[in-house]
Amino acid sequence: MGLRSTLVRRCQLLIVLLALSLLMTAIPHHQIFASLNELLWKHAGRLPQPSVNAFAGGDGGDVGVDGGGGGADDDDRRAFDVGQLHAVRGDSGREPSANIPEFRYLLNEPDTCRPRAPFLVVLVASEPTEFEARDAIRETWASESVALRGVSFRRLFLLGTASPASDAQRRIEEESRRHGDLIQQNFTDAYHNLTLKTLMGLHWVSVHCPHASYVMKTDSDMFVNLEVLVKAVLEQQVNEGHQQQQQEEEQGGEITQHGRVPRPDYFTGYVMRGFLPNRNPESKWYMSEDVYPGASYPTFCSGTGYVMSAPLATRLYRASLAIPRLRLEDVYVGVCLDSLGVEPVFPPYEFHFNHWRVSYSPCQYSRIVTSHAFSPSELRHYWRDLQRHRDEPCG
Ligand SMILES: *[C@@H]1O[C@H](CO)[C@@H](O)[C@H](O)[C@H]1NC(C)=O
Ligand SMILES: *[C@@H]1O[C@H](CO)[C@@H](O)[C@H](O)[C@H]1NC(C)=O
Repeated sequence: MGLRSTLVRRCQLLIVLLALSLLMTAIPHHQIFASLNELLWKHAGRLPQPSVNAFAGGDGGDVGVDGGGGGADDDDRRAFDVGQLHAVRGDSGREPSANIPEFRYLLNEPDTCRPRAPFLVVLVASEPTEFEARDAIRETWASESVALRGVSFRRLFLLGTASPASDAQRRIEEESRRHGDLIQQNFTDAYHNLTLKTLMGLHWVSVHCPHASYVMKTDSDMFVNLEVLVKAVLEQQVNEGHQQQQQEEEQGGEITQHGRVPRPDYFTGYVMRGFLPNRNPESKWYMSEDVYPGASYPTFCSGTGYVMSAPLATRLYRASLAIPRLRLEDVYVGVCLDSLGVEPVFPPYEFHFNHWRVSYSPCQYSRIVTSHAFSPSELRHYWRDLQRHRDEPCG
């Protein structure tokens, strides 16, 4: 008898659980996150000084946020009124000028996209003294010899300044003369300034390469397979562009870059959805409640490698002018995307982008776009091996 009633109770419990899980799947997840997001923005609007710590290095102390006006009952859903923050941004909302007022370019390559913009711009965040890592990338996955099925790409490394000012800068300038692929602004190169680095890259694209089709941002310790990126991820979206090219040719008009029109607002990578801010001050990913009071982050892509349509890079840069910076650059890019109403999408194959290290095999590496944590010598080693198995990576 006792046994039977226990069984019955277990069955009931199971049924309840089953019903609950059915209910959960019935509610679209984006709705849950949308609500969380809404909560966040409303909350942020009521903070007395949401921007003070958010600006990396900026003197945001005098940013006045109208605590009374932007209440939660506001009609505007994004009660976090970014407009009020324009004051500190110098060139708020206007066309990006050739210089971010706060920072100036110490090294620039304004002609990289002339006379023709490439299909793809690859921006590699790199520390000033990572000479070896940059050379390895130049010789492997981003070398000029990489054939991308007839489309062109440009490689640029993004640098801040070495601190303390050292002999490094002289070497960097030499390197720049030799390779012509370094972009550097006058902010201190530090983990906490990574957001500035990405913004520099987006600014550069918006001013010097707005007619590229796609932009990728990645890091200097990454393995990247550009061929897979182009073939399996980006070319999926390019076919419509071919038709336009034909039309333009027939009309004798100017052909835009390959006539390839990127899908509008395309943003992909290793998608991080529903992530919560880390509130542990010891953590590398610490996010204080003062700076980011929200319960969760908007969907973002791991900073180890993400790709977007180039016009979106310009829009993102402009949006950033009005949004207090966060130190976690990938989260910050997600917040800017969210402000534009753009959500990152999954790549065609779930494991195209990886923010961990995928164990090496020629077969695996002929299918993925990114894999994380490579020393320069490992990069060379695996790259060579991959080329050896080029024709039959899985055979
Ligand atoms: C960078 O350059 C700008 C423009 O010249 C200047 O206003 C700013 O103080 C500099 N910033 C740093 C961190 O050196
Ligand atoms: C960059 O990072 C350093 C060290 O974390 C910090 O002192 C500096 O204020 C940051 N910002 C700029 C603009 O250099």
